[in-house]
Amino acid sequence: MSVTAMPRVEEILADLRGYLGDDPPALSLPPGAYTSPELWELERERVFARSWMLVAHRDQLAATGDYVALSIAGESIVVARSADGDLHALSPICRHRLMPLVEPGAGHTDSFTCRYHLWKYGLDGRLRGAPYMNGNKDFDAKDCRLPRFAVTEWNGFVWVNLDAEAEPIAGHLDLAAHEFAEYRLGDLVQIDSWSLEWQVNWKLVMENGHENYHVIGLHRQTLEPFMPGGGDLHIRPYSPWVLHARIPFAGAVPTEVLKLNEIQQNNGMVLLAFPSAAFIGLGDQVVWLSFIPVSIDRVHVVGGVLTPPELSRTSESALRTQQAVTAMINDEDRAGLEAVQRGVGSRFAERGHLSPKEAPGVLVFYRNLAHALLGDGPWPGAA
Ligand code: FES
Ligand SMILES: [Fe+2]
Repeated sequence: MSVTAMPRVEEILADLRGYLGDDPPALSLPPGAYTSPELWELERERVFARSWMLVAHRDQLAATGDYVALSIAGESIVVARSADGDLHALSPICRHRLMPLVEPGAGHTDSFTCRYHLWKYGLDGRLRGAPYMNGNKDFDAKDCRLPRFAVTEWNGFVWVNLDAEAEPIAGHLDLAAHEFAEYRLGDLVQIDSWSLEWQVNWKLVMENGHENYHVIGLHRQTLEPFMPGGGDLHIRPYSPWVLHARIPFAGAVPTEVLKLNEIQQNNGMVLLAFPSAAFIGLGDQVVWLSFIPVSIDRVHVVGGVLTPPELSRTSESALRTQQAVTAMINDEDRAGLEAVQRGVGSRFAERGHLSPKEAPGVLVFYRNLAHALLGDGPWPGAA
């Protein structure tokens, strides 16, 4: 085994190109893909500056003035609901002298007022007031507004794209919608949510999300009895942005409210949206997760648990138990992935061989990544 120096980004891209062909190697990414600052810059430009990111559930932005603020690969955004009911995704950086207008997090406000010199913006991003600016003849308050990003709501999920001209995501999500019809996604209400930070490269998290093989290890006490890691995933890519996967349960999961079909009763029904969002139907619940990179080795993990409204009035103790289980499973993934992040930094790290239990999903993720980064590769289309 040889000691490898930091690979050049061209070498990483050459390895990635291999995933675009008909016979991709059953190998993990080169370790430098998780540590190369050049590749991270390329991902910021070619993936995160132009992809749809799942940022919230509608229930977090239900009322006029509700907002969520976060960063997508270093770019600050705020999503707010205005009085006309519209959602606005804005750059929350003051147009005066670039003070951030909000801290990351969620809140409720009637406007965004800059604490530096008190310029004030409406929930739609228009400038509403700028003290002592009348004497500047080149300044016209009417022309001043926060830059806008693309934002859309699909069945209660709120998505943002830094590219205001991006192709809508809804058409892609709709391709897989029939797999989820019985879950009544648009009616569901959120009963639990989280906002966490994990010390890991976003791609390690997404590989993990494209396979159930790790359940035999990381989740052997929690998920393994119910969704065994040895099960074979049924994978169906609908587009470069949307992949559907079924994860077999150990036995049919009974439901109280939703009338699921036989496939849904016997499988976790997953939708993975490239680059880094997912939701899974598990009986009467849908759990969503979005892994939004903050930097090369940090991911902001947002997500929630949704149920039909009839079930949301479930007892406090049942809710607390459910929250504890979700938190435990999330923490098992966090601890495992943060350890892997330390592993990929080893000078002796090499690409690893993939098991047939993980390859089908992981290779679709790699192919989509290669497609996004290289831009010129073929995408083989629906399987
Ligand atoms: S920087 Fe915001 S008002 Fe001056
Ligand atoms: Fe996991």
